[in-house]
Amino acid sequence: MGITLAVAGKGGVGKTSIASLIIKNLIDSGQRPLLAIDADSNSNLHEVLGIREPKSVGCIREDARKMGEDIPGGMTRDRFMDYQIQANLEETKDLDFLSMGRPEGPGCYCMANNILRDVISRLTTNYKFVIIDNEAGMEHLSRRTEEEVDHLFIISDPSPRSVRTIGRIYQLIDEMEGRIHNQHIVLSRIQGTLADLPKTTREEIEALPSTPLALIPYDEELVALDLEGKPLVDIPSDSIAYQAVRKMLQDIAVLS
Ligand SMILES: Nc1ncnc2c1ncn2[C@@H]1O[C@H](COP(=O)(O)OP(=O)(O)OP(=O)(O)O)[C@@H](O)[C@H]1O
Ligand SMILES: [Mg+2]
Repeated sequence: MGITLAVAGKGGVGKTSIASLIIKNLIDSGQRPLLAIDADSNSNLHEVLGIREPKSVGCIREDARKMGEDIPGGMTRDRFMDYQIQANLEETKDLDFLSMGRPEGPGCYCMANNILRDVISRLTTNYKFVIIDNEAGMEHLSRRTEEEVDHLFIISDPSPRSVRTIGRIYQLIDEMEGRIHNQHIVLSRIQGTLADLPKTTREEIEALPSTPLALIPYDEELVALDLEGKPLVDIPSDSIAYQAVRKMLQDIAVLS
């Protein structure tokens, strides 16, 4: 079974950016095979990674449902789904990519949910690392009730409200009883050091259940790529955000 890494946090705090910097670090360190999962129905992880968007798991399930009993070759529905998901993976030389679902498109509105968790957990056994980009908020964490996550990065930007959300996500994780093996607080888009943050933000950070694992700096190079619509995986490996993510992965022994 591979190591599963996932991100959580309020909207717009940098989840997708950090997920893609994690992916780039794993690729650059020769870690493979990798599976990236876009589990945010409004997300654009494929764009950030510079790859084509595959047919989503939600769509595949919808197709299978429409077939009713007419599943080819006498396959069970689960086998058929496994097969279809495998066949529709977007594969690049560095990684495989899976999209869970999107609201647009006829028949494609269903976000993949619990029905699919077995299919997904079977698929993820084939990889060394699985990286999941999640939607904002935390409902999804409790909804996908059997997914095991080895490292959950709970991300916040420097705003006090966003930091407070971290506390709530921590609470939720406690209630989930052990499915999330390690959770880490990550502060993103930080200019300067913790001491440079506004007092209200610092107070919220001090009230958190643990100290932040990493501070990902505000990175002009990342912003420039974003503005030009370029994939974040094109970021130079001396970029400060990329380097901070590398150190973060080393600190928890995901990378050496
Ligand atoms: N380290 C950073 N330095 C500067 N800008 C950043 C950094 N990380 C993320 N951003 C910018 O912040 C914005 C939000 O980032 P991102 O899309 O990664 O957040 P998100 O949490 O995935 O958002 P959503 O909840 O909408 O999925 C983007 O414009 C991104 O370029
Ligand atoms: Mg996102």
